[in-house]
Amino acid sequence: MTRRRRVYEGKAKVLFEGPEPGTLVQYFKDDATAFNGEKKSTVTGKGVLNNRISEHLMTKLSDIGIHNHFIRRLNMREQLIKEVDIIPVEVIVRNVAAGSICKRLGIAEGTPLPRTIVEYCFKSDELNDPIVSEEHITAFGWANPLELDDIMSQTLRVNDFLLGLFTAIGIRLIDFKLEFGRLYDGEEVQIILADEISPDNCRLWDATTDKKLDKDRFRRDLGGVEDAYQEVARRLGIMPES
Ligand code: C5P
Repeated sequence: MTRRRRVYEGKAKVLFEGPEPGTLVQYFKDDATAFNGEKKSTVTGKGVLNNRISEHLMTKLSDIGIHNHFIRRLNMREQLIKEVDIIPVEVIVRNVAAGSICKRLGIAEGTPLPRTIVEYCFKSDELNDPIVSEEHITAFGWANPLELDDIMSQTLRVNDFLLGLFTAIGIRLIDFKLEFGRLYDGEEVQIILADEISPDNCRLWDATTDKKLDKDRFRRDLGGVEDAYQEVARRLGIMPES
């Protein structure tokens, strides 16, 4: 096996240099972490499932004109992606209250929000990804106002599309996190969706029972993490080949 240059290693993924300039290989690990790495474990098969689920969702988003970094899946754990300059902002979309907003604002988990709420967090492990406003993002130059408008409109389209897609398979899309990056093409700069979309960064509840089918099973020691991710893949019609 040829040794590839490791460009970046995150908690759940590794990025390697790709076969052509401007490409990277995104490798999905089985490692699971929560609370900014304080809780760590391995969930066998998680990387394979997230690779497939993210491929499926990114492809569907491309089909409706949401440009993203996904090029093609290479194997069970790897996908070829476009290299982008990641904007250091996590975009969090909430349709129903869960997780940190409940603690922060004293709202009961499961309360439907009066309208979709988009929050921004500064990507920084040392600072625990603090919530920030548009003012911080533009003042510190992480994105300019035009880029931020573009991010917001793409984010709302992603939410509309995913809400419909998951509703059709009996899943409530409670909230999720997106990341965007700058794609350079000569003088042109385009903001495109990057990272992954999987049960690691979405909250997905069964529409009938509200059973959690996402990483909260790991965060809260509910057990059945891999089964839940498999259930999402099964309902999407994409169970990975064994
Ligand atoms: O923790 P919190 O409730 O703010 O998370 C909101 C959503 O964003 C959840 O779906 C969670 O999985 C996702 N998220 C993430 N990565 C982070 C923070 C949140 O994927 N660093």
